[in-house]
Amino acid sequence: MPLAPVGGDRQTPDTNPDSISQDIANLNKTPKEFRTINTFMRRRTHINQNALSALTDPLYAPYIINHSGDVGKLGDVSAIHDLRAYFANTPNGTDAPLTLEIGFGMGDSLLQMAQENPKRNFVGIEVHEPGIGRVAYTAHELGLTNLKVINGDAIALLHNLPDDHLDVVQLYFPDPWQKKRHYKRRFVTHDRMSLVADKLKSGGVFHSATDWEHYALWMLDILDAMPVFSNMAGMGNFSPRPDYRPETKFEKRGVDYGRPSWDLLYKKQ
Ligand SMILES: C[S@@+](CC[C@H](N)C(=O)[O-])C[C@H]1O[C@@H](n2cnc3c(N)ncnc32)[C@H](O)[C@@H]1O
Repeated sequence: MPLAPVGGDRQTPDTNPDSISQDIANLNKTPKEFRTINTFMRRRTHINQNALSALTDPLYAPYIINHSGDVGKLGDVSAIHDLRAYFANTPNGTDAPLTLEIGFGMGDSLLQMAQENPKRNFVGIEVHEPGIGRVAYTAHELGLTNLKVINGDAIALLHNLPDDHLDVVQLYFPDPWQKKRHYKRRFVTHDRMSLVADKLKSGGVFHSATDWEHYALWMLDILDAMPVFSNMAGMGNFSPRPDYRPETKFEKRGVDYGRPSWDLLYKKQ
């Protein structure tokens, strides 16, 4: 049985594991072209002055790998092929363990983890410009040399990277895309997770967390069925929240509404 999440359980009518398995099977039957749609929705939101400076001022270019000086455009990741190379002139160099955080939002977890793990390198990718600017501005203020961010689509980036490149991929509180017709936008699908698995080193870890029960069970179903991954808590189980995972903005919001969270940790074989 799955580990009971801290904070009680939250049942919704469609969280029956059989119905989730059926939804996943239906998604796998949809033609591939319909599955290549975006997992994100870009929204126009207020950008504060510090974040705007980071997006536009070349001073912050060392923190934004594809810094263009433009605002309002989805970043181009087509020239990014090797994340390790961007740390060549830093104290850690190119061989330090490398974590990629996908969809870091306002960057609370990424900033905290980079500060707490100075010997590891971190790259975050987002499409949300207020968050990209905020992380770059704060990383510069803190003088962090082990953290960089990218403006763009993580799927496009992953396609460009060499296989066996990353030590950790983290996906915290991904958009739950709650409506059935939007399930194909969920980041965790069999196809997208195969891509993630290719880019992880052998022994590398995929770590996700969500406060949506349906998505938690959905991820468990998909990932447990992939032979390339082994569930670190044992098949069918969620992992206890590791103390190194900071609470994110979306998680805090969930906690305010009394929602528990579920962590999933998978090692690439
Ligand atoms: C619900 S938010 C969670 C943000 C943050 N992880 C947190 O817990 O506060 C999900 C984020 O993932 C980002 N996202 C979704 N798909 C993405 C993709 N393919 N590439 C980059 N970012 C993505 C969205 O822009 C959004 O900011």
